[in-house]
Amino acid sequence: METLGLAIDTTFDDTSVALLRGKQALLANVTLSQYADHAEFGGVVPERASRKHLEVIHPLIQRAMAEAEVEFRDLDWVAVSNLPGLMGAILVGVTVAKSLAYQLGLPLMGINHIEAHPYANFLVHGELEFPLLHLVAAGGHTLLIHQEDHFKWRVVGRSVDDAAGECVDKVAKMFGHPMPGGPVVDRLAMAHAPGPYDFPRPLLKDPGLDFSFSGLKTAMLYFLRDHGPRVDEGPVLAAFFASVAEVLTVKTVRAARQLGVSTVTVSGGLAASRRLRGAFEEACAEAGLTLYYPPPNLCTDNAAMVACLAAYRHEAGLHDDLTLDAHANLIA
Ligand code: KG4
Ligand code: ZN
Repeated sequence: METLGLAIDTTFDDTSVALLRGKQALLANVTLSQYADHAEFGGVVPERASRKHLEVIHPLIQRAMAEAEVEFRDLDWVAVSNLPGLMGAILVGVTVAKSLAYQLGLPLMGINHIEAHPYANFLVHGELEFPLLHLVAAGGHTLLIHQEDHFKWRVVGRSVDDAAGECVDKVAKMFGHPMPGGPVVDRLAMAHAPGPYDFPRPLLKDPGLDFSFSGLKTAMLYFLRDHGPRVDEGPVLAAFFASVAEVLTVKTVRAARQLGVSTVTVSGGLAASRRLRGAFEEACAEAGLTLYYPPPNLCTDNAAMVACLAAYRHEAGLHDDLTLDAHANLIA
């Protein structure tokens, strides 16, 4: 019988628990978003996030176990994202995972949330073969990762300022849309042509693989200052998102060429965007690259991707002990 594992992710503002049999049979993946709890503050309040995780983590584990129809005694391993993210938030997941592992006498694994994002692809695309180039485009990170094998990866490009998702959320906020702004911007970008509007493509001409999105956000601020609040939202946001999509696709294709990699995966919250998926399909087809992306519910933060990476680590015997700690930064 293939192993059964339980994975927890509490790195930011989503509490998520998954149960995975083997490497692909997802028995449960339950996620509670805290967006509504932070709405009145206009952004995630770290202390509040920790408290919310603490309130819901145990009921969520119970719910996942019930959905998967398994008992604690059926588990073979426990995994938790222990970096990067909000320190207090991660600590909730790490403490619960350690307690479970200790009490049940099970192997424990600390998982890098960023390394896990692309594993949403391994979960559903069993045929993936190395080497791979991953674009992880999320609310907190925009990273290009070159992966030569499981556990053998390095960051080859990153945003030097705001993440793409952060930029999209902030621009959506300028138009009065609540967090997360990505889905509404995506919907408008699908429904409208950019018309006469055009926004900068930051660092596009720079030969490097890093991104920058804060200038694009500022460009929108100036645009709204100059044109007033009664602009035609649809075409303006379509033009804005066209810039984001072009920068992400061009840099990803450039990285694949530079590294000699022919398979690309896209993950992270922004990968749920239909507009972005379309842009990647076009760009990768043109460049002769094979493209993979996960279903939308596995693009945004979830414990299923954490469970999938943990299943590979468990197979390789890469366990941690009860001294496992939380880290706010990408590399511990
Ligand atoms: O991966 P994620 O859930 O959280 C982080 O790890 O940061 O990504 C959240 C980001 C937010 O910026 C959100 O607006 C964006 O992903 N997002 C989307 C969509 N769903 C979430 N952006 C465009 N289209 C979507 N459907
Ligand atoms: Zn994430």
